[in-house]
Amino acid sequence: MNAIPSELLQLEAYSVSGLLTLERLYRLGQDVVARDVQGDFVECGVYNGGSAAAMACAFRSSNRRLWLYDSFQGMSATQAVDGELASRYVGELVGDEARVRKALAVASFPESRCVIRKGWFVDTLQLPLPEKVAQLHVDADWYDNVTLILETFYDRVSDGGVIILDDFGHWEGCREAFYDFVRGRGLKPLLERSGHTQAFWIKGRGHNRDFSGKKTIP
Ligand SMILES: C[S@@+](CC[C@H](N)C(=O)[O-])C[C@H]1O[C@@H](n2cnc3c(N)ncnc32)[C@H](O)[C@@H]1O
Repeated sequence: MNAIPSELLQLEAYSVSGLLTLERLYRLGQDVVARDVQGDFVECGVYNGGSAAAMACAFRSSNRRLWLYDSFQGMSATQAVDGELASRYVGELVGDEARVRKALAVASFPESRCVIRKGWFVDTLQLPLPEKVAQLHVDADWYDNVTLILETFYDRVSDGGVIILDDFGHWEGCREAFYDFVRGRGLKPLLERSGHTQAFWIKGRGHNRDFSGKKTIP
């Protein structure tokens, strides 16, 4: 496995996540690029841009775009399914668009290829969307947010694209939103865990097979 770019070490300061999470986002991005999965990269829940910039390191030399969605006013309201602890975070995690731009500069990602949609998801997800998505990073914690994001983008994710849930292990609202979404759509994805909270899956039924090191002919 190749070394991680040194920029990821600097990007930790722009993220609520640790280096392992950022590395996973970067490596998943590298993987979709290597497999030539078509589409742009999307993050919902940006904060100060650390995770977005980590993803950007994976495709900065292509002409794909990065779409970023955040209120920059912190966490939205919770409901009972999110749990009592979650309600204490409403209004917390207020990111700063200027910090996001600095993080993208650390990643040497051109601003001209970044679309920042500032505002609440219920409003900004009504605006024109990327046609195709190669990587979708869902980092907005609550049941309502995760449901809306998956409903909005799932059909735009290319076959072989990756969908990452930052909060699967940590927040029960995120987890329940995932289960309700896949049940509602009749999907049975192979959900991969990475660390305690991050989870991801590759869209499409046959994409989880790994023939490396096997003699079987695919
Ligand atoms: C956990 S933070 C994102 C962390 C970021 N990905 C990182 O690596 O540091 C969640 C973000 O989601 C945003 N957010 C939460 N609910 C939202 C909503 N309903 N609409 C828009 N943004 C929202 C918050 O402003 C916050 O910046």
